[in-house]
Amino acid sequence: MKNLLIAGNWKSNKTTSESESWLSDFKNNLNSDTLPIAMTIILFVPFTLLDFVKKRSKELNLPLNLGAQNLSPFSDGAYTGEISGRMLQEFADWVTIGHSERRTHFGESEEMLKQKVKQAKAAGLKIIYGVPDEKTVVPEGVTVIAYEPPAAIGVGGVAEDPISANRVMEVIKSQYSSSLVKMIYGGSVNPENIAQFVKQPSIDGILAGRASLDPVFFADLIKRSLIS
Ligand code: PGA
Repeated sequence: MKNLLIAGNWKSNKTTSESESWLSDFKNNLNSDTLPIAMTIILFVPFTLLDFVKKRSKELNLPLNLGAQNLSPFSDGAYTGEISGRMLQEFADWVTIGHSERRTHFGESEEMLKQKVKQAKAAGLKIIYGVPDEKTVVPEGVTVIAYEPPAAIGVGGVAEDPISANRVMEVIKSQYSSSLVKMIYGGSVNPENIAQFVKQPSIDGILAGRASLDPVFFADLIKRSLIS
């Protein structure tokens, strides 16, 4: 059995009270005792919820790792509105960089993404780096690459066929040392299709946006990933 990595990305959603009920409903719906020890579950939450979700998931003894959805391309300093890697260290072990929504809506260039990777590494954060295709260059030091075909992401998106996603991911993986790099798929993953994705040889896990917003759905997604 693979050491699966299952990531949820709340994107720009949820208040503190909404995340409180998400966490308790998630606890009630996930039977943590049945999860393989080597499975990694990561929740990428907005900056405003990192502190709360970290404390609350510890109190509830949830098997969750915490991730930030972004970080500054600079270190600490006069960069109004930015959150540096050092500031994130207190709350998160992971960060996503290169997500297609950051590339599209915020015009993040390859150069800027490289800077972000540098800052994340300096802060000791583990990185999930998003790429839209097999041609995009992944900066050094990334250990998890998320293949996220833009047409598959978000409302109106259609999941890529798992076999063709696997083909692209095989090509990406072949460019890096496969023992160091894990590959995950993102784009319209749901409890019905997850098993088809994680059973592909080059797919080590998934990144779910919409399917992570509902705790019952997300718990179901995790359960069904084990059926592959
Ligand atoms: P989605 O988002 O699951 O809502 O399509 C996926 C992603 O952000 O990678």
